[in-house]
Amino acid sequence: MRLPCNAPVPASNATYLHRLYHRVRAKSEVLAAPLSPEDQTAQSMPDASPTKWHLAHTSWFFETFLLLPHKPGYQAFDSAFAYLFNSYYEALGPRHPRPERGLLTRPSADEVLAYRAHVDQGMDELLLDLPPELAPLVELGLAHEEQHQELLLMDVLHLFSRSPLAPVYRQGLPPSYPALGPISWMSMPSGIVEVGAGGEGFAFDNETPRHKVYLQPYAMADRLVTNGEWLAFMADEGYNKPELWLSEGWAKVQAEGWQAPLYWQCEEGIWMAFSLEGKRPLDLNAPVVHISYYEAWAYAQWAGARLPTEAEWEHAAVLGAELHDLYGEAWQWTRSAYDAYPGFHPSAGAVGEYNGKFMVGQMTLRGGSAVTPAGHTRATYRNFFPPAARWVFSGLRLAKDVT
Ligand code: AVJ
Ligand code: FE
Repeated sequence: MRLPCNAPVPASNATYLHRLYHRVRAKSEVLAAPLSPEDQTAQSMPDASPTKWHLAHTSWFFETFLLLPHKPGYQAFDSAFAYLFNSYYEALGPRHPRPERGLLTRPSADEVLAYRAHVDQGMDELLLDLPPELAPLVELGLAHEEQHQELLLMDVLHLFSRSPLAPVYRQGLPPSYPALGPISWMSMPSGIVEVGAGGEGFAFDNETPRHKVYLQPYAMADRLVTNGEWLAFMADEGYNKPELWLSEGWAKVQAEGWQAPLYWQCEEGIWMAFSLEGKRPLDLNAPVVHISYYEAWAYAQWAGARLPTEAEWEHAAVLGAELHDLYGEAWQWTRSAYDAYPGFHPSAGAVGEYNGKFMVGQMTLRGGSAVTPAGHTRATYRNFFPPAARWVFSGLRLAKDVT
């Protein structure tokens, strides 16, 4: 809207949540803007989704959980989308098989943008007079969209990594992390501490309830493991020593031929890493990313250390002092299985399927990565992936027992 210079200052009526809605929704479209419709349609593996699907699914979430049940008279944009863009909600009926999302040449990228605009118009009307009890669902929808913003970038990187043209998603500066001294260890006393989200601000259900845990004395590394340190592990034949690996991890190393983190390539004797900025020389001083839980575990074994538990990570993060790279570089694998906290209850209804039903066979990661939307994460945040996942921006921080 153009503002005449002599216009009176309009009365403000939007809530902060309404503004946040616009900011988050716009960001998804900014992330997709450098991608052609063809880029947005392809799916490089069953774990990844096309950009177009992310843009539509996040809109489906608002349509399904807010507009259809709570906005009288709202008309769904297209009744077929309930089948196409339901990700995994059994309570909402059958859905398109995940590994076939890349076959959806229709709706077109433009039609998906029109779908977004339709949902945004409905949400604008709803948000202008939002019943207060719906605010948590809107916040969930926005946190959900932010999760998909990170997934979108993970998935684009994986897709582009499979192209012989090595496409560049965005221009970036060359690597420029300064060299660091050795890791410093931050000693933490033993005792009973509280972890989990306690009610101030938005949190996913899996962060609750806040509860007590007992921590043995431990020490946390002040920073993340770097690419240079990872090279030392590789030079010491880390990928070829079964004694360093969990049995499942060693099986993966052999089956997949892992000899370096995902996206590393030795080209004419030079280590290159494929990134959203294209193929670039490896920066020795940057935190290592794109390693599985198994690799993180083996590295810790090799380094005479271990991975932190998620309670140790959270407790140290809250105390904060001298811990670098907590957020914004890499998700940090913990040795904790993704499980319910004592007293956990998923929300009632279909939205209760959001987190709780995935609590088996995955490991928890803490912190946040370089592609996590700013402000999305926090000390109590629990990310989770299967232990073999490598397309995540996942790295590691070491911990140690103190005796
Ligand atoms: C927390 C990143 C594992 O990828 O399924 C997206 C995020 N949840 N839609 C996932 C999520 C619902 C979730 N992870
Ligand atoms: Fe989702």
